[in-house]
Amino acid sequence: MSKKNFNFKDESMKDLINYLGLIRIKLGKSYLPLHEPDIDYKDQKEVIKGLKSGYVSSVGKDIVKFEKKLKYITKSKFIISTINGTSALHIALKVVGVKSEDEVLVPSLSFVASVNAVLYSNATPHFVDSEIDHFGIDPKKLDDYLKKNTFIKKNFCINRKTKKIIKALVLVHVFGHPAKISEILSICKKYKIKMVEDAAEALGSLYKGKHVGTYGDIGILSFNGNKIVTTGVGGAILTNTKKLAENSKHLTTTAKIKHKWDFVHDELGYNYRIANLNASLGISQLKKLSKYITHKRKLIYRLHKFFKNSNDFTILREPENCRSNFWLQTLVLKRSSKLKKNDILKKFHKKKILARPVWRPLHKMKYLKKYPKMNLNNAEILENKIINIPSSYYL
Ligand SMILES: Cc1ncc(COP(=O)(O)O)c(C=O)c1O
Repeated sequence: MSKKNFNFKDESMKDLINYLGLIRIKLGKSYLPLHEPDIDYKDQKEVIKGLKSGYVSSVGKDIVKFEKKLKYITKSKFIISTINGTSALHIALKVVGVKSEDEVLVPSLSFVASVNAVLYSNATPHFVDSEIDHFGIDPKKLDDYLKKNTFIKKNFCINRKTKKIIKALVLVHVFGHPAKISEILSICKKYKIKMVEDAAEALGSLYKGKHVGTYGDIGILSFNGNKIVTTGVGGAILTNTKKLAENSKHLTTTAKIKHKWDFVHDELGYNYRIANLNASLGISQLKKLSKYITHKRKLIYRLHKFFKNSNDFTILREPENCRSNFWLQTLVLKRSSKLKKNDILKKFHKKKILARPVWRPLHKMKYLKKYPKMNLNNAEILENKIINIPSSYYL
């Protein structure tokens, strides 16, 4: 879609909806998706090459090549690619030592995978609140909460109420915007908590010049079809610690001891390795990452201009010291606005445009209500303020 066509000359939501509706019709789509993968001829060629190699499952040269490319982009010392981001997070938690008797701090404002991975480890999620501005975990609130509700014993952070060890924290970079990594990292160090970065949405995002997911003990990425770069389904574990990388590789490959023909598995492992076929697609997709980010930055610039004088909305901005990948474009209803989230969504959907609210805060889900939590005011406010609008590369 050319820049000329993207003319936000009238400052109103109505015009944005009309404009996106027109794009939908021009593209001949029955619905304008939220985030569509961009699969071109080169992607197809790479996948066919992968198919022809005969290596379509969890071993093959393209996995090695894909991981090498990811290493180059993220500067992570080790990369272990997986079948998806959820499995990557499950293994990341396991290798940092999360056990069934532990608690893990998770933001309530996240996709359900962040908490499910904790439950797959049979650990207890403990919900924490997010910041109003960029939706990452609120460092001040977290520090105050841990000060009041925990104590340190034998180098572990103990929850005063449950007497369980708080072993890890999952730091989510929401919609690709880096959370306040330095502040959260120093809190984790202070309270002896492992930091696991859920950078599923944030490939290409930098915090103080360094790729997100590489600050904590370990991090993860997702390459689902709706992400900035896709392998169809896929994910990756990032770490700079050799031991964590080795354990991750071992657990994602059914804990099989390396041997030319023998099948010996030394613990309960998982069949979580990415398929070579998915990695083939990833190789050509990664080549386009910087182009995608450039396009998204242009799109956000135009959106800012459009909503500059809006009484109702702001556009989510890049946090300070960060370079965001702007994966999903985000409208935030101003506190003063009288508009209702669901009324706005209805208007988008009437024109067959897939806009969506932020996730329902996790602590409100029936199966998650029983778990410990701090006051989650901000997550509850944000639930009614955030709208993601179509953000595909071609816009
Ligand atoms: C914040 C977050 N964490 C984890 C995941 C899980 O990734 P996947 O869908 O690849 O399992 C996603 C993505 O969909 C996500 O948005």
